[in-house]
Amino acid sequence: MSERVRIFDTTLRDGEQTAGVCFSPRDKREIAARLASLGVDAVEAGFPGASRGELEAVRGVADAVRDTTVCALARAVAADVDAAAEALGGAARPRIHVFVNSSDMHLAHQLRRSRREVVAMTSAMVERARRHAEDVEFSPMDATRADPDFLVELVRAALAAGASTLNVPDTVGCARPGQVAALVAGLRAQVPELEGAVLSFHGQDDLGLATANALAAVEAGGRQVEVAVNGIGERAGNTSFEEVVMALRVHGEALGVHTGVDARGIHGLSGLVAERSGIAVPPNKAIVGRNAFRHASGVHQDGVLKNRETYEVIDPAHIGHPEGTRIVLGKLSGRAGFAARVAALGIELGGEALERAFHRFQALADRVPEVDDASLRALCRGGSGTGGAGLGAGPGFALDL
Ligand code: KIV
Repeated sequence: MSERVRIFDTTLRDGEQTAGVCFSPRDKREIAARLASLGVDAVEAGFPGASRGELEAVRGVADAVRDTTVCALARAVAADVDAAAEALGGAARPRIHVFVNSSDMHLAHQLRRSRREVVAMTSAMVERARRHAEDVEFSPMDATRADPDFLVELVRAALAAGASTLNVPDTVGCARPGQVAALVAGLRAQVPELEGAVLSFHGQDDLGLATANALAAVEAGGRQVEVAVNGIGERAGNTSFEEVVMALRVHGEALGVHTGVDARGIHGLSGLVAERSGIAVPPNKAIVGRNAFRHASGVHQDGVLKNRETYEVIDPAHIGHPEGTRIVLGKLSGRAGFAARVAALGIELGGEALERAFHRFQALADRVPEVDDASLRALCRGGSGTGGAGLGAGPGFALDL
């Protein structure tokens, strides 16, 4: 039987920790509403303890989004927990997310507290959060560098105090998938009380391993993944929303899991977050990059023209891609892509004439990154083509013309 993996979106909290990003209260409401409409399980709206403005922005999301859990982050200090509770006062489904440093390095150099003090802070602040909200999540920050025995102690304390989601943060994005799997499996084995709770994973992408680590956590029994749209977030960013949702869709059957997210909204959501955050999506970004479904080389073009699945693992329609698969003509393109485009333009050319036009196309393509339709028409009329589009500027052409 397939089990649900909850998608906890932190675009508005950890995503906003991207250097240079500041969402307005309206941005937060609109992005949260879009996330909710796609079926995410929880939206982390912000960190109310940070400022009065942030508290009000989180309150705006909490008041507006009714059918999805709205979460607010709090350090394990009373003022933060109370600020989170205040911001979530009008929420239909509030969650307070309490976190505290857990690695010895963080305890010694940042928090300057003993392990015993950290356990006491965890118990007290999770209990305090529970007085305001039924739904409390606990994160031992820097868990992947913490002593696993101490993690067990912290998780036990949080569960005993009433937390129902226990998150494992790879705060500096340093873990390998095997380590994450071992950590999650180890916690499940050593803390039987976790049976009634949800074990979660939060990964940063410093080594580019965040999505792989999230999948490893799921394979080991994690049932919530924390993500941000377009992978934005502190430093190299967070685990990407779109990568996790689509990876769990592609591999869901093998892993025996599914999410509740309607993936058809992914493309639009990515555009909305790129626009509001001011962080452009790199062209080669998995799933949502401009080139994710564009094919430039002859071998690949020949394959997708015969069957799209030869070189695509995802159907672009499944993420609501408005253009779908595209063929981009350039110097690495072959006869198949060239002939398909010529035919799609309604130009009747065959045999020797087509071959001559192809040679003229190659001569032009050696000089420009992308050959556009106007040039292609000129080439077919016997001209040399005057130019082409700049790299990535041309639209390419759709596969199913
Ligand atoms: O990176 C981190 O450890 C966090 C926690 C608060 C979950 O953002």
